[in-house]
Amino acid sequence: MPVRRVVIGICMALAAFRAGAAEAPPGASSCLGCHTASAAVETPVPPLTGLPAPRTAEAMRAFRSGQRPGTIMPRLAKGFSDDEIAALAAWYETQPAP
Ligand code: HEC
Repeated sequence: MPVRRVVIGICMALAAFRAGAAEAPPGASSCLGCHTASAAVETPVPPLTGLPAPRTAEAMRAFRSGQRPGTIMPRLAKGFSDDEIAALAAWYETQPAP
């Protein structure tokens, strides 16, 4: 029956979408407001997508400790634990760079 086939198709598409998108850790999407994932957006804020995880994690910890200066990130980084930073960094590394 065609209707049944359509329903199965939609379910499979949703499952595939969730597999790719559902793993974003807490707080990860909030970064994308400033750190764009699109090459079409012109901004001085560097993209996080595709950045090696150690680099993202190290930068976040340096902002948090005050070791690295910044306008926004030192304040923002204070809200993240080591585990949360590790999860964010690992996830961004797997996302396609703009
Ligand atoms: C309100 C805008 C804004 C948001 C939201 C934001 N950032 Fe940033 N980010 C910046 C700016 C601006 C810089 C440059 C340093 C500075 O001035 O603080 C930066 C720099 C960075 C850097 C250093 C990049 C490099 O190439 O050295 C990292 C890593 C980073 N942000 C991670 C994050 C993460 C992870 C989040 C989400 C939890 C996030 N940022 C959310 C604005 C933002």
